[in-house]
Amino acid sequence: MPTFLLTEPLHNGVLILRLNRPDALNALNTALLEELADLLDDAGLNDDVRSVVITGNERAFAAGADVREMAGLDAVGVMQDPRPRYWARIAAFPKPLIAAVNGYCLGGGCELMMHADIVVASSDAQFGQPEINLGIIPGAGGTQRLIRAVGKALASQMVMTGQPIDAERALQAGLVSELTEPELCLERAIDIARRIARQAPLAMQQAKDVLNRAQESHLAAGLAYERKAFTLLAATEDRNEGIRAFIEKRRPDYRGR
Ligand code: HXC
Repeated sequence: MPTFLLTEPLHNGVLILRLNRPDALNALNTALLEELADLLDDAGLNDDVRSVVITGNERAFAAGADVREMAGLDAVGVMQDPRPRYWARIAAFPKPLIAAVNGYCLGGGCELMMHADIVVASSDAQFGQPEINLGIIPGAGGTQRLIRAVGKALASQMVMTGQPIDAERALQAGLVSELTEPELCLERAIDIARRIARQAPLAMQQAKDVLNRAQESHLAAGLAYERKAFTLLAATEDRNEGIRAFIEKRRPDYRGR
């Protein structure tokens, strides 16, 4: 049974996950990361799950890796740390992941947020990579994903000063796609997740895969990859259904085939 991750019953194809270590501002300990990787693996294989929303509480999305747990690791411990494997499984989740961020989103929390495809932030959210204040650097994508998201100057400033940016700045920089009032953040993320959940699942998975590929490839390779995925989708029943429904002026009935 999950302890650090609460789930709500699946509704309209949307699975809601809530990070649940409120006493530690949702610091990501190994057990939490393992639960998250397990849950996302299951959700990836469950056809009824069409999109996932991940959130924290009103004070924190997550304030980073668990510093107390990290304190106990020497170099060999870090080398043998199972956490990179959990991060890799989270990154490989093939369905849309939407983050709803209130409050602190720091260190490993900011890195987890950057694994989401879409981020809705509360106006009180703070984003930062404060690892440098602990004599370390980000270790789960906080330099690589951040620089791709916000560019070199702002990423370097965040990583080198350790100072967070506010929600407005995060929106301006493209780190998040929307801002809301604090109490509306989760609701808005669920709205987006529901809309996504109604779309053709195979097209959605291809969309995620191709969008992610853009971060890793040069333009010509990315365009070729996109075209292959586009062509592959021509073989799906849902593609025919989507086009037929448009012509017949009705809502499509997608089957994931
Ligand atoms: C463990 C944490 C924690 C963390 C907060 N807590 N962040 N415990 N790991 N990352 C705990 C505090 O110890 C405290 O527990 C409780 O949560 C409330 O936090 P306070 O500090 O009392 O709250 P506040 O004064 O409001 O300050 C909030 C804060 C501060 C600014 C977010 O907690 C903070 O600076 N936290 C550390 C942030 C950080 O450095 N993150 C990066 C970690 S390194 P008690 O028991 O005292 O009440 C990292 C590396 C990633 O993420 C590498 C990935 C592989």
